[in-house]
Amino acid sequence: MTGRAPRTTRSWWQDAVIYHVYPRSFLDTDGDGVGDLRGISHRIPYLARLGVDALWLSPFFSSPMEDFGYDIRDHTAVDSLFGDMANFDALLDTAHGHGLRVLIDYVPNHTAAAHPWFQESRSGPDSGRRDWYIWRDPAPGGGPPNNWITLFGESAWTWDSRSGQYYLHSFLSTMPDLNWRNPAVREAMFDVARFWLDRGVDGFRVDCAPLPAKDPALRDNPPASPGAMAHHRPMGGYDSQQHLYDQGHSDIHPLYRDFRILLRSYGDGPDERIALGEIHEYDWRVWSSYFGRDLDEMHLPLNFGLLRTPWQARATADLVHEVLRALPDDAVPTWVMGSHDDPRVASRVGRAQAPNAMMLLLTLPGTAILYNGDELGLPDADIAPEDIRDPWGLRTPSLSRDPARSPMPWSDGPTAGFTAPEVTPWLPVTIPPGGTAAAQEHDPSSLLTLTRALLALRRSHPALGSGTIEFLDAPTGVLAYTRSAHPQATDRSLLITLNLTDHAVPVDQVLADRFGGRSLSTLATTATRGDSRVLAPHEGVIWTPE
Ligand code: NOJ
Repeated sequence: MTGRAPRTTRSWWQDAVIYHVYPRSFLDTDGDGVGDLRGISHRIPYLARLGVDALWLSPFFSSPMEDFGYDIRDHTAVDSLFGDMANFDALLDTAHGHGLRVLIDYVPNHTAAAHPWFQESRSGPDSGRRDWYIWRDPAPGGGPPNNWITLFGESAWTWDSRSGQYYLHSFLSTMPDLNWRNPAVREAMFDVARFWLDRGVDGFRVDCAPLPAKDPALRDNPPASPGAMAHHRPMGGYDSQQHLYDQGHSDIHPLYRDFRILLRSYGDGPDERIALGEIHEYDWRVWSSYFGRDLDEMHLPLNFGLLRTPWQARATADLVHEVLRALPDDAVPTWVMGSHDDPRVASRVGRAQAPNAMMLLLTLPGTAILYNGDELGLPDADIAPEDIRDPWGLRTPSLSRDPARSPMPWSDGPTAGFTAPEVTPWLPVTIPPGGTAAAQEHDPSSLLTLTRALLALRRSHPALGSGTIEFLDAPTGVLAYTRSAHPQATDRSLLITLNLTDHAVPVDQVLADRFGGRSLSTLATTATRGDSRVLAPHEGVIWTPE
């Protein structure tokens, strides 16, 4: 996208900000300590005021909750923990009424073992649904059929003594992998998508998008070179292999082409329903293959590069360059700054830099994913070992995802308004240094106020979402770039300078080179900025000619 003229017609999702809601932790209205769909509906006005374009909801489907909803027992039922279908329909109506799109999670790779499909499948080798999952005999010398491991670093095969074979599971043994090579599975899972599209959802975030296509011969994965990282953060035993055969087989592409055709059958204009793919791939050419050769697969393959890149000016600029270089013509990149699976951004980059991280996220070209609570600067919660709930954390405490999943702190009180004061929330509530949402609401120096201002600026300057980006020479530790509607459109362009250091840095030269002596208006991460051309420690500023 660097220097390339932007497309003339754009769809809403090509420069959107998508707010990721983790339903368990958003707002509890029925007093069980777990968030629910009604709670999300109550907060739609907050999200509309914030200025995001869409929300994506993590799973709220019927589930034993061993992986907190990613283990689905019934794809077309709302788990009673979160409410019922009427609550979902009301949420959808409320969001649409406020001009917000709604995306939901779609989990193709696995179901819960409690799903009726698996129950039938495991009833015996002759079961009509045996081939809906991946069953194999032991390896010739005994033991699991191959060396594949789960994300927890354990064998991905569990022996089922009742039916006398192993079944495959990329995650918990209670989350068996579906066999997408069986056309009946594909049809049944496409029907799941149709069910929600018929209800009116605007699209899906496709969980573990590369996983449904595995090597048909189930070959062993080769060992990884020492120090290699299969994910964006060290994953212990999982990093010991190159995950060559247990995911991402080339058959994934026809599958997502067909999925796109299904989506398009619901309309292909500006309101086309969309697919966001969860793709942990850091070879950017492989990542970009998920757009499809003719941009006919995923609308938006998610890009987790910012989570893997050191918080440094050079490294960040290099990442953006690499991603944009790998981007197919007319495709738009996505940027993820936080998620329910990763340490919180305010803890990763530090409290002082969190506003800069928000400024970066909302000024990069393409579509941004904002994880709930990051607009408040919520840090990782301190979770005592005996309070760990996450199955990853129960195996390897350092990998626990609980710290990023603590409830939203809405207001004063013992449970910060997340649930009734006398109720124990499912995870402890943490109050960010900037205060609860209510405290930040009218505080001109809060991260919430800044996020709102950035989103408003993004709306009034389309160049921020869809324009070109150019990195500029700047003093060490400062990330400086312009966003312009066209490569040469300097008068409408915005110049962003992020001081990633803890000392003041002059940027007068950068400004003079770009704007000469013109007077400039600013939006800054600090509420106290005057007209100085020196960045305060940790300060980020967006400059525009007046
Ligand atoms: C990715 C999800 O984001 C994560 O939370 C979940 O545990 C796995 N997929 C398994 O579905």
